[in-house]
Amino acid sequence: MKTCILAIESSCDDTSAAICIDGNILANITASQTVHAAYGGVFPEFASRAHMQHILPVVEATIKKAGINKDDINVVAFTRGPGLIGSLHVGVSFAKAFALPKKLPLIEVNHMQAHILAHFIDEPKPAFPFLCLTVSGGHTQMVLVKDYLDFELLGETQDDAAGEAYDKIAKIFGLPYPGGPLIDKYAKEGNKDKFVFPFPATESYNFSFSGLKTNVLYFIQKEVAKNANFIEENLLDLCASIQYRINSILISKLLRASKELKIKHIAIAGGVSANSGLRAMLEETGEKHQLKTYIPAFQYCTDNAGMIAIAAYHKFLQKDFSHQQAEPIARWGVDVK
Ligand code: KG4
Ligand code: ZN
Repeated sequence: MKTCILAIESSCDDTSAAICIDGNILANITASQTVHAAYGGVFPEFASRAHMQHILPVVEATIKKAGINKDDINVVAFTRGPGLIGSLHVGVSFAKAFALPKKLPLIEVNHMQAHILAHFIDEPKPAFPFLCLTVSGGHTQMVLVKDYLDFELLGETQDDAAGEAYDKIAKIFGLPYPGGPLIDKYAKEGNKDKFVFPFPATESYNFSFSGLKTNVLYFIQKEVAKNANFIEENLLDLCASIQYRINSILISKLLRASKELKIKHIAIAGGVSANSGLRAMLEETGEKHQLKTYIPAFQYCTDNAGMIAIAAYHKFLQKDFSHQQAEPIARWGVDVK
């Protein structure tokens, strides 16, 4: 019998569903939430309410797009954490309710593991072991991936996540939330060498972005005091320069880990891996140092249920099931089973 998984992702501000048959994603639909833009970040209570409005139509549209019947689904997967507790509750409750009448098996998925396993949706798939830099709005992690479900956390951010740094710096530039994709857009036309921002000194494989953010804030305040139109006149160059700095911090550490651990397969994952500058920098670094590089398809970088489905498929193969009593987990390490 074919394994037909319905996967649900609701950990932050994207409501997503996917259908996966025997490891192939047939449909992956995400409803994003625009309500947060006015608040400069995700407003948790509004996120939960929007998930409740979106989840049924998103699941129905996904089943339709996959060209299957609701009764074909024989496994239900959900993001159990980490994430916003109220948002997670919506997906977890929906998955459990969907599975209950027919007593379908449930599979719980760790969101950060799923970002990494997004590499196993399309070809080329990485060989184990590989290094994955997972960069999202809530996390920045350097992970040694030993097998589908065997992860070692080598380092992580000590303060802001890379996506958070992008969003907060974008806010300093007067851009709306989420600012990361906008910095990417403007950076394409800017000069990355116009402004030189500091490179934080961090130990081991950890990261720190809050000092950089404060440095940008003070720099902008100083320049705006001299010229009220400074941001407007320099927006493209500011975006290109800060994007270059954030990305070079990330890639230099990934390269160092690759050299020190002698691992020649390196990957990026998570929302910030959608950044065109980061994708290009990873590829250039790979070519220069003879490393094999992996970048997920654009649609599997930011939060999506396709990655939850593929992670669930590998857990299904290992008969790693959840249960009707499962509750969301707000904090859940990538290396914790
Ligand atoms: O993985 P994700 O969708 O959600 C979390 O799990 O956090 O990541 C969202 C983050 C946001 O901070 C967003 O600004 C950032 O990813 N992001 C980008 C780009 N696309 C999304 N940052 C820079 N450039 C992009 N193109
Ligand atoms: Zn994410």
